[in-house]
Amino acid sequence: MSIQTIFKDKKVPEEFDVPLKKNYDKYLLNGTIKTWKGKTSEVYSPIYTANGEGNYEPTLLGTLPVMGEKDALEALDAANEAFNNGTGSWPTMKVEERIKCVEKFAELMATKRDEVVNFIMWEIGKTLPDAQKEFDRTVDYIYDTIDELKELDRNCARVKLHSEVYAQIRRGPLGVVLCLGPYNYPLNETFCLLIPALIMGNTTVFKPAKFGVILITPLLEAFAEAFPKGVVNILFGRGREVATPIVKSGRVEVLALIGNSKSANALQSQHPKQNRLRLVLGLEAKNPAIVLPDTDMDLAVEECVLGSLSFNGQRCTALKMIFVHENIIETFNKKFVQRIEQLRCGLPWEDGVKLTPLPEPGKPEYIKDLIEDAVSKGAEIINDGGGDTHHSFVYPAVLYPVNEKMDVYHEEQFGPVIPILSFKDVQEPIDSIVNSNYGQQVSLFSKNSDTLAPLIDSLVNQVCRVNINSQCQRGPDVYPFVGRKDSAVSTLSVRAALRSFSIRTLVACKNNDLNKDILNDILDNNKSNFVSTNYIL
Ligand code: G3H
Repeated sequence: MSIQTIFKDKKVPEEFDVPLKKNYDKYLLNGTIKTWKGKTSEVYSPIYTANGEGNYEPTLLGTLPVMGEKDALEALDAANEAFNNGTGSWPTMKVEERIKCVEKFAELMATKRDEVVNFIMWEIGKTLPDAQKEFDRTVDYIYDTIDELKELDRNCARVKLHSEVYAQIRRGPLGVVLCLGPYNYPLNETFCLLIPALIMGNTTVFKPAKFGVILITPLLEAFAEAFPKGVVNILFGRGREVATPIVKSGRVEVLALIGNSKSANALQSQHPKQNRLRLVLGLEAKNPAIVLPDTDMDLAVEECVLGSLSFNGQRCTALKMIFVHENIIETFNKKFVQRIEQLRCGLPWEDGVKLTPLPEPGKPEYIKDLIEDAVSKGAEIINDGGGDTHHSFVYPAVLYPVNEKMDVYHEEQFGPVIPILSFKDVQEPIDSIVNSNYGQQVSLFSKNSDTLAPLIDSLVNQVCRVNINSQCQRGPDVYPFVGRKDSAVSTLSVRAALRSFSIRTLVACKNNDLNKDILNDILDNNKSNFVSTNYIL
C-alpha cells in the first residue's frame, strides 16, 4: 500500500469517534473540579481528517488550559496542606482506608475505558489493541499494587526485639510528590508513579505529558470522588511554567518523572535544598540487540522487528541499535526488511495495523535529518520507501551500515528509524555499550548457552536487564524496571515503587517495664495507626 493513500477517504467508525473542537476546561484543585477561564492551547491529533475542501489537516481535538506559576503554586499549597507536615489525614490514615480510596478510584476508572482508549488513539496514534492493553495493564497495576501493599503491611505488623530494643518498622510517606509522565505511555507510566506515591500516603501534584493529555480529563471526577481534598491535584500546561516553580519553591519532596534527562536535570537543579529531593526517574535509553552468528534467525528477526517498531519505536525500551555478526548480516538484513514490509500502515483502529502517525509535530523532520546525516556518512536505506513521509506518518527506515560518526548511533531516535551495524568481534558491541551514556537493557540472540553465558555475565554489570532471544521490554510490571547511567534513578515495579515512594521509619524503645506497658496499651487499645499489629486481609 502506498503511504500517500492511507489516510485518504477513510471514515472514522462511530465507536472510535471523539468529540471535536471541545474546550477541555476542567482541572482538579484541592478536591474540587474547577473550570479554567484563562489562556488555552489547541490540541491537534496526529491523525489527519478531511477539511471539507478536499484537503487533509491535523484534526483539531479541542483546547486545554495553559496554566502558569500562580496555578502551580495553588496546587502545591493544596498538596502541602493535605500532607500538613505528615500530620494530615491522608499521611496518617490507616493503610486499609487508603487502600479503599485507591480501590474506589480503580472501579470508577474502569468505567471510562472506551473514552480513554479512544483518546489514546487520537492523541498519540497508538493502535487500538495497544491502547486497550495500556488501559487494562494500568488497572491491573493498581490492583497488584494494592495486593503488594497489603503484603508489605502484613510483614510490618509486628514488634521486633533485637539487642534489648523493641521496634516496629514500617514505611512512611515522604511528602509532596510532583508527577510528570511521558507521552508514549500517557496513562500507564504516569499512573505507575502516581498510584504508588498516593497509596504510600504522599500527596501529589500531577501534570500530564505534552501529548496524551485530554485522555486524563475523563478521570478527573474519579480522582475527585475517590481521594480526600488536596491529595491529588491535576494541572495542565507546559513543564517550564508549571513544574519549574513547584520545584523552585522547595516545597516538594519527590520529583517523579518519566521523560528525558535534560528536563530532569533542569528541574532538579531548581530545588533549593537538593538533598531533600528524592528522584524517581525513568529516562532515555539506547537499548541494543546483539545478534550472534549462531542465532535462530527467524526468531531474532521477529523480536528485533517487534523491539524496534512496536508503537513506531516510541518506547524507552525499544531496540534502538541492532548489532549483527558479519557472517549473517546479509541474511539478517534481507529477512528483517521483508518482515517490515509485512507490517500494515494505517489508522490506529484499523484491523492489524502496526505502523501509525507520530504525535510529535517535529518528528518527521527530525527523522529525516537523522537519515540524511547517516546517508551522508556512508549508510544506505536498505528498505523500499524507508523514511517516506506523509504528513505525520513516517515509513520505517532501516539504515545500514551505521557507524559512530552518525547522529543516529548516539541519539535516542524514539521513532521509526533502525540503525544496523555489523561486527566481527563481540567486543565491538560490548565496547559500544560501555561507552554509551545509557544503561537500561540489551537483547542477546543466540541458540548457544556457551556463547551467551559469558556475555550475560559481563553485560549484567552494564545494563539492568539482559533479554535472551527476546526484545527489550518493561513488563511484566512486577519485575524491576530500572537503568544505569543516564537511563534511570530509582527502581519501579509493583513492589519497588512502593519502596521508592516511601522511607523506612521505626518506633523503638529499650526493653523495660515502663516501655512494655506503653507499647501494650497502645497495641491493645488501637491507639496508634503506626504502632499496630493489625493484620490486613
Ligand atoms: O517507554 C517505556 C516503557 O516503559 C516501555 O514499556 O516495554 O512495556 O513497552 P514496554
